[in-house]
Formats: sequence, structure tokens, C-alpha cells
Amino acid sequence: MNVFQEINAPLRTIMTPGPVEVDPRVLRAMSTPILGQFDPAFTQMMNETMEMLRQVFQTQNKWAFPIDGTSRAGIEAVLCSVIEPGDKVLIPIFGRFGHLLTEIAERNGAEIHIIECKWGEVFDQQVIIDEVRKVKPKVLAIVHGETSTGCMQPLDQIGPACRELDVLCIVDAVATIGGTEVKVDEWKLDAVIGGTQKCLSVPSGMAPITYNGRVERLLATRKKVERGVAQEHDRVHVQHPIRSNYFDLSQLQDYWGPRRLNHHTEATSMLYALREGVRIVLQEGLEERFERHRLHEKALIEGIKAMGLELFNDVSWKLPMVTCVTIPDGIDGEAVRTMLLEQFGIEIASSFGPLHGKIWRIGTMGYSCRKENVLFVLAALEAVLIRHHASIQIGQGLQAALNVYES
Ligand SMILES: Cc1ncc(COP(=O)(O)O)c(C=O)c1O
Repeated sequence: MNVFQEINAPLRTIMTPGPVEVDPRVLRAMSTPILGQFDPAFTQMMNETMEMLRQVFQTQNKWAFPIDGTSRAGIEAVLCSVIEPGDKVLIPIFGRFGHLLTEIAERNGAEIHIIECKWGEVFDQQVIIDEVRKVKPKVLAIVHGETSTGCMQPLDQIGPACRELDVLCIVDAVATIGGTEVKVDEWKLDAVIGGTQKCLSVPSGMAPITYNGRVERLLATRKKVERGVAQEHDRVHVQHPIRSNYFDLSQLQDYWGPRRLNHHTEATSMLYALREGVRIVLQEGLEERFERHRLHEKALIEGIKAMGLELFNDVSWKLPMVTCVTIPDGIDGEAVRTMLLEQFGIEIASSFGPLHGKIWRIGTMGYSCRKENVLFVLAALEAVLIRHHASIQIGQGLQAALNVYES
């Protein structure tokens, strides 16, 4: 019989676009003893988490709570609760995760309309607004921070235009929440999905979402309460009930709201983690946290450029927490990543689809976004590139990053 050893995970410096290093305070919170999900001590923590999530999403929305599952669980919950078969959904695609939105909307029976731009670029907001006018969809679903290309799509004009045209604007802010501005109310976004494993520095396994009254009213028309827990007044005929039980926002609302209608068994330890994660974000201060992400991004960028490497995309639409570096000609990107991991314990990422093998993606997210990590990754990358005979400016990268920190 095999004797399996105790878990002994190596310590890593994780500089990918997620999952990233988890704040030690979050890890400690996760070892808190389990409580029953309707224990008042636990429901109080649920309420507190909702309150803190509203602040992180910069919204007055009544509904802000996590979906149990990875970030795409949050996306599925919103899309499957909103989309009825045959609904028109417009999706601008500028990387892998626009395709994910399409995939999920398609599986929910939507009539899909897509517009695409080159990976590494974003859309002029007016192009999307014109398309919304032309297609007249029920939903515009769009990614804010596209981790596959390191690009951030501006949304401040798209949201208000959708509101004016009575289109629901649903945003994947999985990568951006807690790392840069996601102004849900000001940008008039109707539903927004965040991620835990990126700038919140919580493990993967929950997806915080928020949505407004426009979405809530739509959910009310599709609400069907599970038979085993329904009461008399719940037994109404609904023409197009939400297809999923697990991701049914109308029932989840009753679980997170004062009714506390029994639904799934809450992922208690993940809730502890998320509560501590958002508490840390608010303790640091949103502005201060965004500024920290910008500072370390700048140090990394300056270091990369001084080393003689090229950034993949234009800084004007760069995602502050993901820096994409063009792999120099003749260099095996995967061999470099392997050496970084094996010799230095540093993880950086490759990319997907048309960018696979062409760029490295370096994340500066949440707890991983620290000076010592940035300096370490620059030093190690330089050493590994020297071993691979790349033509780089030796000794310049770290100095440029230090200049940023000292200035
Ligand atoms: C922008 C974006 N959206 C969605 C996802 C999907 O998240 P998950 O893998 O947690 O389901 C990711 C994951 O990397 C992402 O970066």
C-alpha cells in the first residue's frame, strides 16, 4: 500500500495573472473553526462580507455576495440567470476571456453577436456603442481586464450608453477588482463579476458578484423556488425559469438575504477567506491599493525596458496588474519559465491562442504585488536570459526598478 506523505508544498514567488500568493492573514482566517451556515455568528459574517464587497465594488447595490466556485461560476451565475433562450447578447472580444463569455452565453441559448479586435488591443468605446445601437441586444457582456493579453477596456462611456439604450451591461472584472478602479455605479454597470484569486489575494473558489435593481427585477420574472424548500406563495407558474439550480441568483438572493432560504451548503472556510481578503483591501484603502499596483507596475515596466526587452502592448490600454513581455527572437519562452521555477521558485505565465509562445505575462496582483517580488523577478529573469544567451542589457533592469522605488 502506498504511504502518502503530508503535504509539503514548495514556497513560490507567484508572479502570474492568478492565482497569486495569498495574504498570510487570509490563510490564518481559513483555519478558523467551521460554523453552521445558519449560525447567527456565521450569518453575521455573511452580512459583513456583503457590506465590504459593496465598498470594494464602489456600489450602493443591495446585492453583492459571492458565488461558490471559481470566477467563471460567477460569470455563469449572472449569465444563466439573465439570459433566456433566444435573447440577443453582444460580446466584444479582445482575448481569451471574451471567448469564455461567448461560450457561456451560447450554452444558455443566447443569439450571439460578436465583434473582435486584435489580441493586444482594446476597442474604441464608440465602436462598441455603435454596435449596441445596431444590434439592440438585451445584454452587452464584456471583459474589463483581459488577462490573456494584458489589456484593459475602458468602460466609462459604454455603461452609460447601455443604460440609455436599455441594454444590460454585464462586466467580467475578475482581474481588476481590488487592483484598479471598477466604478460599478458611476460607470452604470448592471452586473459585475470579480475574482478572488487575483488582486484580492484569496484562494480560488469563490466569485464575488454585484448587480442592481434592473437585474433584480428581471430575476423576479424567472424565479422558481426549489420544491423541497418552497412555501405556498413561492408556488407560482414561471414561463422561463432559470435553468440552473446551483447558479440561480433569484434563489441565492433569498439565501444571502434576510429570508435565509436554504440553498447550497456554504463554503465556510472560503467565506472566512473572502471576508478577511476584502477587510484587508479596505484597511489598506482602495486608492492606496490602486496606487500600490501602479507603483510596482511602473518599477517592473522600467526594469523590463532597461533590460532591453519589449513590452507587448501599448501602455495606453495596459492592464496595470499584468505586464506582457515579448519573448525575444530565438529564445524558448517555456525553457525560460521552467528555469525560473526550478532555479528560483518563481512562476510567471505564458499565454493562450495566438499569443502562446510569443509573450510572457508577469502579474503584479494583490499580495504578490510587492517590491521584493518585483526586484526578485527582474534579477532572476536577467540571470536566466543570460544563461539562454539572450541579447540583453546586463545590470540595467534592477537599477531602473530601484530608480522608480527611490524616486
Ligand atoms: C479575466 C478573467 N475572466 C475569467 C477568468 C476565469 O476564472 P476561473 O479560472 O477562476 O474560472 C479568468 C481566469 O484567469 C480571467 O482572468
